[in-house]
Amino acid sequence: MNARGIILLTGGAGFIGSHVAVEVAAAGWIPVLLDNFCTSERSVVGRISELVGGPVRCIEADIRDAQAMHAAFGSTPVHAVIHLAGLKAVGESVEQPELYHDNNVRGTEVLLTAMDEFGVRRMVFSSSCTVYGTPQRLPIDESHPLSAINPYGQTKLDIERMLDRWVDAGSERHVCSLRYFNPVGAHASALIGESPRGIPNNLMPYVVKVARGELSELGVFGGDWPTPDGTGIRDYIHVVDLARGHVAALERLDSMRHERINLGTGVGASVLEVVHAFERVNGVKVPYAMRPRRAGDAASAFADAGLAERRLGWRARLGLDEMMRDSWAFATRDDG
Ligand code: NAD
Ligand code: UD1
Repeated sequence: MNARGIILLTGGAGFIGSHVAVEVAAAGWIPVLLDNFCTSERSVVGRISELVGGPVRCIEADIRDAQAMHAAFGSTPVHAVIHLAGLKAVGESVEQPELYHDNNVRGTEVLLTAMDEFGVRRMVFSSSCTVYGTPQRLPIDESHPLSAINPYGQTKLDIERMLDRWVDAGSERHVCSLRYFNPVGAHASALIGESPRGIPNNLMPYVVKVARGELSELGVFGGDWPTPDGTGIRDYIHVVDLARGHVAALERLDSMRHERINLGTGVGASVLEVVHAFERVNGVKVPYAMRPRRAGDAASAFADAGLAERRLGWRARLGLDEMMRDSWAFATRDDG
């Protein structure tokens, strides 16, 4: 491999980070993971190594631990950081807002301090479409008004603003905040994917558990939304497309100060469209029942993905069928 330098991926053992690590390696960089495994498994590191065809280093550390972060950067000449480490469960953030602030916001502060100590000047940050709050207009472009409707969303807004201050405070600092829409799917190898602990909050992992018979039926949160079939519409994006978007951002970082860019397909799908696509592609049933709307939900949210195309030369290539196929292949993989 023609190595181009080291990319440190905080949260690199997670659902999105593991896929980003594979794409970063495919582009000729050396991925180094840094993770405390609070929501992921150590075995993922070996699976990433298998996919990239050689051992991938993982530093076990918490981004809030200043000493450990100092040691991590001291031991590794880092070209850029892809900062994915964070807690992301909206309900949990409402119950424990201090934990979310401490882990996500203070953790980022500690990370930036360590980067400053070692002159690391580039970051790609995992932001979220949650920063747009309840959609005021569709599709959602990057100039859409910002608001936090829960403590998790507040952490993403706080970090984006912290990164503005960071680029202003030093010379030659470059940041790209990628605002993800709804990442789903898994690597085509079925070696890495999403495996949330406990009962899932999000649609795709819930559909998978129902299809496997681990949960009896999917509750569809509202059949009376102002959408064609009455169910909520979202912009689902294949995690491998999303991962490629990080590489595109990395390649263009030096032409940015701090830019915010949506990563979505620009196409919405309703809950029932997702369920029916899953059933058709995988030949399995997903029993469902209509339920009341979920608090805080919106009828529709989908991206204007134009800026990503113009600025990064990136667009999503994979459709809903591939997302459904790969989610199911990962869920039914033979671990043996
Ligand atoms: P994930 O939970 O699978 O991965 C997060 C990883 O970060 C895990 O491996 C976890 O162990 C690690 N981590 C968390 N706190 C840490 C800490 N203090 N120190 C070191 N490691 C820590 O989640 P994901 O879906 O891969 O999300 C990655 C990032 O993308 C998060 O920042 C999340 O907020 C953001 N994001 C995710 C989604 C989504 O729907 N999955 C949407 C928008 C944004
Ligand atoms: C979630 C997060 C949001 C984050 C976004 C992108 C919550 C409350 N919000 O929202 O902060 O930015 O992901 O990752 O978690 N649905 C059902 N039944 C279910 C689960 C979901 O009908 O059991 C519906 C929802 O009402 C929604 C759609 O499926 O219409 C998608 O839900 P979900 O996967 O939770 O994503 P978001 O609502 O976009």
